[in-house]
Formats: sequence, structure tokens, C-alpha cells
Amino acid sequence: MTTATTHRHDLYAHIHKALRLAMCETLQQLGRMDIDDPLDLGASLGQLDALLDAARHHVEKENTFLHPAIEARRAGASAAIEAEHEEHLDSIATLRAEAAALRAMPSPAAAQRLYRRFAGFVAHNFEHMAVEESRHNQALWAAYTDDELHALHGRILASIGPREMSEVLRWMIPALTPAERAELIGGLPPEVKGPVMDSARALLNDAAWNKLSRAMGQPSVPGLVEA
Ligand SMILES: [Fe+2]
Repeated sequence: MTTATTHRHDLYAHIHKALRLAMCETLQQLGRMDIDDPLDLGASLGQLDALLDAARHHVEKENTFLHPAIEARRAGASAAIEAEHEEHLDSIATLRAEAAALRAMPSPAAAQRLYRRFAGFVAHNFEHMAVEESRHNQALWAAYTDDELHALHGRILASIGPREMSEVLRWMIPALTPAERAELIGGLPPEVKGPVMDSARALLNDAAWNKLSRAMGQPSVPGLVEA
């Protein structure tokens, strides 16, 4: 038996799963980074840069679309989280500067400092996202119908460019459950479904890929017709 609220449209659920996965993997990558290996250093700091870009875009989307919607019907309800977003943007700038300094002059001390600062950023973001998923969702669900929230979601998606979208999907596809993944990809326009399925193949293990293929009604190995 589920409660009515579990069926409400949750604007935060999928993107926050993607961000949590990206943050966990990037933190692990920074923790094991070999600063004496230029390839590993470059790839690790490149992943951090991409994560920080995604985190900045996410803050901007929430500030542009979600907070005005909350404030329009629940004045003041997004103020605390909006203030934390300013802190996040400052932290992102500091992390970028430290990563650039490490790239220019690698040292164990600088690598450890960056790893620990990023761990603190991740910890704070996890608590922040939990508040959004509880308090902000409560405000949105109390003030808006699901049809209105679907329309708002559509406006957010329409504001995301193709490059940013493929960055998001790179983390979102492996972060979701098989059912969520199939629903997300099944709802895409036909012209993007093919390329997204191609990248899903590279991101998923065989079991997850087989479930997705079945849900999409296609053979799991292209060219093979399953019995
Ligand atoms: Fe946020």
C-alpha cells in the first residue's frame, strides 16, 4: 500500500540521483588519483570540471525555474536553499581554482587538499538535496497540481542544450532503477531515442542493458532476434 504523496510528480528525484552518483564517483576518482601519471591526473581533473559544470547548471535551473514557482505561491519557502546556492557557487569557484593549481603544479599536499575540500562539498550537497526533496517538494505539491508540475518540468527540459543534456544523461542513465530508466528513455522524442540507447549500452552492465532492451521492445544484441 502506497501513500498518495508517493505518486506526486517529483521534479528533483532523477536529477538528484544523477548528481549523487556523479559526486560519489568523482570523489572516488580524486581519492585514488595518481598525480605522477599525467593521463590519470588529466582525466580525474577533467571529470571534476565536468561535475562542477553540472552542479553549477543545476543551481541555475533551480534558481530560474523552481524557486520562483515556490515563491509565487509560498513566499519565503525557498529562501534558505537559495542562500545555500550562493555558497555552492563560491565553493565551485574555489574547487576550480584549486584544481587548476594542482594541474599546473601537482603535489601530494595539493591533491589531498582538493580531495578533502571536494568531500566537504559533496557532504553539504547531500544534506542540501535532502532538504529540497522534502521541504521544497512539500511546498510544490501543496501549491501545484501534477499537471502544472509536468508543465514546469517541460519548461526546464526545453531550456537544456544538447551538450548539457548528454552530460546529464551520462550520469542519469546508470543512476536510475530499470523502471525509471525505461520510462525516461521511452518518453524521449524518436530522433534522440536511438543515440541515447547507444550511449546507454556503453553505460550499463549486461543485466541492466537486457532489462532496458526488453522494456523498449528491442533485441538486446542489435541484429539478433531473440526467441
Ligand atoms: Fe539545490
